[in-house]
Amino acid sequence: MTERLTIRRPDDWHVHLRDGDMLRLVAGHTARQFARAIIMPNLVPPVTEAATAAAYRDRILAALPEAAAFTPLMTCYLTDASDPAEIERGHAEGVWVAAKLYPAHATTNSAHGVSDIRALTGVLETMQRIGMPLLIHGEVTDPAIDIFDREAVFVERILAPLVRDYPALKIVLEHITTEEAASFVREAGPNLGATITPQHLHLNRNALFAGGLRPHAYCLPVVKRERHRLAVRAAAVSGSPKFFLGTDSAPHAIGRKEMDCGCAGIFNAPFALESYLAVFEEEGAIERFEGFASEHGARFYGLPLNEGTVTLAKGKATVPERVGDGALSVVPFHAGETLGWRFAG
Ligand code: DOR
Ligand code: ZN
Repeated sequence: MTERLTIRRPDDWHVHLRDGDMLRLVAGHTARQFARAIIMPNLVPPVTEAATAAAYRDRILAALPEAAAFTPLMTCYLTDASDPAEIERGHAEGVWVAAKLYPAHATTNSAHGVSDIRALTGVLETMQRIGMPLLIHGEVTDPAIDIFDREAVFVERILAPLVRDYPALKIVLEHITTEEAASFVREAGPNLGATITPQHLHLNRNALFAGGLRPHAYCLPVVKRERHRLAVRAAAVSGSPKFFLGTDSAPHAIGRKEMDCGCAGIFNAPFALESYLAVFEEEGAIERFEGFASEHGARFYGLPLNEGTVTLAKGKATVPERVGDGALSVVPFHAGETLGWRFAG
């Protein structure tokens, strides 16, 4: 039996680091496990300009512990008014690695998101030409569509035509949660990839109601039925280069989760690798973990693989009930559980 696993240093291809005190609380957790991360731009106000993104990158670097070797990869928040020239300029200057499409009102801080993808024609043509990936929150926002169906309907109504119309555009369907999304990505050409979170590998929708209403299991896209969880697991451990690690770690202070209209988001950064590795072990696919965590994403983005390694050791890792103090404290994913692998640096 494997007692220690050493892999190339991994990256997180989707994370929310927030700003201010929350940024200072959470940044070190991501930087401890990952060499690079794609930083989500859904701040208030959103990160829509290259200068704002560069300033945000500086605040992230300033929030890291002294010795951290961590590179934040910045993204541009797309709106109906996004300017192709600004996007191209920010990309050429090395500020932006990718751009994020939030359908308006799909999730946290997405009010400025895109109301009609047809407004983005010029932007998408530019991104396709310069090789800048489009990252998508793939849910329709039509209130007539059941919330558990919003991803599958997005794949059919929006993603399929998009992939057809922009065959050379690199697209990442973020945090996939359904059989439909997993199979669409698997069957598509090499320019379509997907990130997978730990929570969508561990939880099905029963977790939202286990003995009572569970705000800390609530994220968007919402966790789905068991058959979808199993399909997403199969994709993650398949070895396909189209699927890679993206935690979607999304911290909210405890008071913003435990309220009558609690925020969506699961804070999984502190034990992210331990959480993913448990799944690969359960699936008998430990030998495929390094590809998922450390290779597929970098290759998709066209970035070099990291130098250096991290090691996980068999042994108990007990997840605390809280991270942080007082009003700022956050309940981490797996709070109070004991995981079977420990991050050993
Ligand atoms: O659960 C989520 N939380 N999903 C998102 O898409 C956004 C995120 C957040 O920013 O809190
Ligand atoms: Zn996210």
